[in-house]
Amino acid sequence: MTTLLDFNDENSNTSPNPTFDSVLQARLSRRGLLRGGAATAGTSLLGGLALAGCGGGDDNPAATPAPVATETLLSFAAVAKNRLDAVTVPPGYTASVLYALGDPLTAATPAYKNDGTDTGFDNRAGDHHDGIEWFGLGADGKPSASAVANGLLAMNHEATTDERLSSFFLHANGGTSTLPRPAAEVDKEVAIHGVSVVEVKNTGGKWATVPASAFNFRLTALSTNVQINGPARGNALMVTKYSPDGTQARGTLNNCGTGKTPWGTFLTGEENWAGYFFRNAADDTARNNDKSVASLKRYGRNAAAASRHGWETGGADDRYARWNNSKLGASTDGRDDYRNELNTFGYIVELDAYDKTRAARKRTALGRFAHESAAFGNPVAGQPLAVYMGDDSRGEYIYKFVSAASWLAADANPADRVTTGDKYLDSGKLYVARFNSDGKGDWVELSVGNPAIAAYAGYKFADQADVLVNARLAADAVGATKMDRPEWCSTNVANGEIYFTLTNNSNRAVNPSGSGQMSPDSANPRVYTDLRSGTTTQNGNPNGHILRLKEAAAGSAALAFSWDVYAFGAESGAAPGSVNLSSLTADQDFSSPDGLVFSPSTGILWIQTDDGAYTDVTNCMMLAALPGQVGDGAKKTLAYTKADGSALTVDTYVGKAPGADKLKRFLVGARESEITGLCETPDGKAMFINIQHPGEGTKMADIADPAKYTSQWPSNAGHGAGKRPRSATIVITKNDGGRIGS
Ligand code: FEO
Ligand code: CA
Ligand code: CA
Repeated sequence: MTTLLDFNDENSNTSPNPTFDSVLQARLSRRGLLRGGAATAGTSLLGGLALAGCGGGDDNPAATPAPVATETLLSFAAVAKNRLDAVTVPPGYTASVLYALGDPLTAATPAYKNDGTDTGFDNRAGDHHDGIEWFGLGADGKPSASAVANGLLAMNHEATTDERLSSFFLHANGGTSTLPRPAAEVDKEVAIHGVSVVEVKNTGGKWATVPASAFNFRLTALSTNVQINGPARGNALMVTKYSPDGTQARGTLNNCGTGKTPWGTFLTGEENWAGYFFRNAADDTARNNDKSVASLKRYGRNAAAASRHGWETGGADDRYARWNNSKLGASTDGRDDYRNELNTFGYIVELDAYDKTRAARKRTALGRFAHESAAFGNPVAGQPLAVYMGDDSRGEYIYKFVSAASWLAADANPADRVTTGDKYLDSGKLYVARFNSDGKGDWVELSVGNPAIAAYAGYKFADQADVLVNARLAADAVGATKMDRPEWCSTNVANGEIYFTLTNNSNRAVNPSGSGQMSPDSANPRVYTDLRSGTTTQNGNPNGHILRLKEAAAGSAALAFSWDVYAFGAESGAAPGSVNLSSLTADQDFSSPDGLVFSPSTGILWIQTDDGAYTDVTNCMMLAALPGQVGDGAKKTLAYTKADGSALTVDTYVGKAPGADKLKRFLVGARESEITGLCETPDGKAMFINIQHPGEGTKMADIADPAKYTSQWPSNAGHGAGKRPRSATIVITKNDGGRIGS
């Protein structure tokens, strides 16, 4: 979600652990001065307009030999920044809408009317499509790693477009924006969250979903088929009225980034779940201000703070009561209320996309925070597996999980995928990253035996499960580096280096003041002002950057790494010495990188944005990159002047500037959408991505007047009834049958 809403931008890290100090005066990036240069020669303004019906190409791409011998990656014409209400791709490419909010997942489900009267979302696509992964199906209908014409798409449905509590596009008249919320509205809103799995097929060159497929299913925020795994299973922290033995959870929520395991299962990260819950004003007192209050505050749930939708007011039934996390019962352990319910959210959840009968697992060994994607380091037989993860809130951390079990190549095709997940993801070590000013860094184990954690004054950890459930507090204790909102991470298949998007941080400041503000440091070195529409200023690091790290010789289990910044987001006209440090041109410039995926087929790094800073000039976008490696650039010293006149310098490490042939804008999304999630068929010829929340700035008061919707995508692209904007999955193909990005 963009900065139009607060829930994606939590700011609960007020821990005093140090950031590198360095500070001076912000360099102003005056966008007014930057205008005028606009489009460059290689830019195609409208590219091949989305859904233009360019049939082109082959009737059966699956049978077409790859033109790899003659292909040049990134040879397409860059797409110009634009604010069209369309998805624009380069000439020679076609983007088609495949699967939008409300589309049926069973043969019996009626087509989506898209007028606010639809129901039955347990059998329809959810809202705010996000991370997405491909699971191939062979001609025999069984899992296949090589299938290219038939497969399952597993994807997240992160949230919903809302205003004053109500997901107004879901309700006929915009819904109820005061408390209490009607049960029928709550039921719809809960059900459009979670995950969906949908079969897709290429028939005669045209991709479509298979609504009658027995593989299709939804996991929602109310689903019962979820269990708690790993060290926190059965722990006192997990006891709820729903699961007095602390082994079960109900549903998954605010699912953002994804991952795919080496054994072929789907990983989904629970991100901004905390905002959906409510605690009574007197709850801190009811808890005797015990350590659970410190935990709740650190994870962003203060007593009396309004919940995002007011679901707790839907009625007396347990499915509404569970959203109130106050201590209400008389029990000592919480088996008669939902005081511990928040401890059951905030995980990487694993599910078998091929088998809806198997319970999803919340993998507590990987820690509890605002999860984004989960990226495996390249697996090496006989070595442990590493899983890299970010915690997306201002000033939160980067983590690594290292499995206790060593990788067995035969597990790439196991008889039982779910128990293989148990083997690798239920026991291991969790680490948090510290980035140093010399371009090195280290991984600090979050262990209850670590003296800094055992002696931490901010929270008394009972056991290792407590460390994992309260990983943010444990990471505070060891002085982890506060980052500019870690979003997705992905592993460069070519060399094993790990890339992280740091989307932006409004709390990075030259003169930190107030709760949570932090100084620039080596890994988060920029503080500047971005002028939106020539009037509104955004301070801190509004454009974000992409950091990468290289593990030391020990590989996945390494305790040390080196790092640099692959690219700094910036407007191409921004000051080159302090803001546009990567010398981005008009064909390359971007702001607020979020989605980040290396293609296993082409090796291209795909960068997607979820921006609120450059959106006065362009809708969010996707770029293709062919990056080098850690250390291919140079050290750069940024100089700032503090309010008291003292000078401070920050050393950072800037990767080699991407030349015109190494970074290029490939796609611009519909109005007010973010671009997120990416997967491909194994031949690289069909790419699936998600267009999330088009038209999210529409006013609820304008619900009856489609002319006032800020977007009418994808109905204006020919997909479905009604004009209310809908999040959707699109498929991108190349008209000559080639690979995407060539
Ligand atoms: Fe759901 Fe951090 O983006
Ligand atoms: Ca985001
Ligand atoms: Ca994201």
